[in-house]
Amino acid sequence: TDNQIILGIETSCDETAVAVIKNGKEIVANVVASQIESHKRFGGVVPEIASRHHVEQMTIVLEEAMNQANIDFSDIDAIAVTEGPGLVGALLVGVNAAKAIAFAHNIPLIGVHHIAGHIYANRLIQELQFPLLSLVVSGGHTELVYMKEHGSFKVIGETRDDAAGEAYDKVARTLNLPYPGGPHIDRLAGEGNPTIDLPRAWLEEGSYDFSFSGLKSSVINTLHNAEQRGETIDSKDLAASFQASVIDVLVTKTVKAAKEYDVKQVLLAGGVAANKGLRQSLEKAFVELNGIELIIPPLSLCTDNAAMIAAAGSILYDKGIRSDYALNANPGLDL
Ligand code: KG4
Ligand code: ZN
Repeated sequence: TDNQIILGIETSCDETAVAVIKNGKEIVANVVASQIESHKRFGGVVPEIASRHHVEQMTIVLEEAMNQANIDFSDIDAIAVTEGPGLVGALLVGVNAAKAIAFAHNIPLIGVHHIAGHIYANRLIQELQFPLLSLVVSGGHTELVYMKEHGSFKVIGETRDDAAGEAYDKVARTLNLPYPGGPHIDRLAGEGNPTIDLPRAWLEEGSYDFSFSGLKSSVINTLHNAEQRGETIDSKDLAASFQASVIDVLVTKTVKAAKEYDVKQVLLAGGVAANKGLRQSLEKAFVELNGIELIIPPLSLCTDNAAMIAAAGSILYDKGIRSDYALNANPGLDL
């Protein structure tokens, strides 16, 4: 239809989010209740606290989104909900809320993969052109995903240990920065210089996989060794050096894959896409690769939200894909 309304629900981690999307790409409402304040003092997301917050917030966030969109349940064509991957207890809240609404109002239900959502955040900015490549960098994932058409995802590279965001958060913690550490490292990096020599994990020739745990350990060792020698390390320079290493590997592999797979577009996705250094380096690299369009969503669509889940759900809806009432949370769901 030319007036398709999809309600999106996302609760895979620490944001309770509900959104309303029109025709797969127009945001009508996008409400996100963040729990960051509740998790900060623990230095990371506490799963049980996350689940309880989702239960408290779900109906409030839903009502707010419905009010902003000025719609009734009868206007909704389908409900798209994140079924995985993520924290199981957190996912269950969203999945169950979606099922309750779908059942009560007889609305089609569609389970969505969280990473498909991150990728489809880009469609809220620009129409997608295939084949395309997406660099997905979040707290739980670091993947290069090739898409030859809508709804088709081929993971051509992924992290073998820590995700990029995880590495940021762990390095931030060793520098005594608050959770989530990514934005703090990003800010410090902007004030420092990459003067400290840190490793880059290129892995085997031709591999598009990533590895960040060695880099993380190297940062910790650098701090530790300096401490033992009674020296101090400038945390700004250390942050800048760490960030330079992460970005160097991410951008180099993305550019190489974009050329090899001869794609029309490169999409940036996931929370780490908010990183200023990464955005700038990608923009610079792709100026020279004319013919390949780089899409970088605004920060609000890079971090977890439900508009992206509704956008991915819209494609499944158009393909006639529906979930039944046995839909369950799947914390290890494959893309
Ligand atoms: O996609 P997201 O909101 O949640 C997951 O699905 O994981 O990503 C959160 C991650 C966190 O690790 C956070 O530190 C990181 O994204 N992040 C950043 C920046 N903003 C958020 N990392 C580096 N630089 C940033 N500016
Ligand atoms: Zn995410």
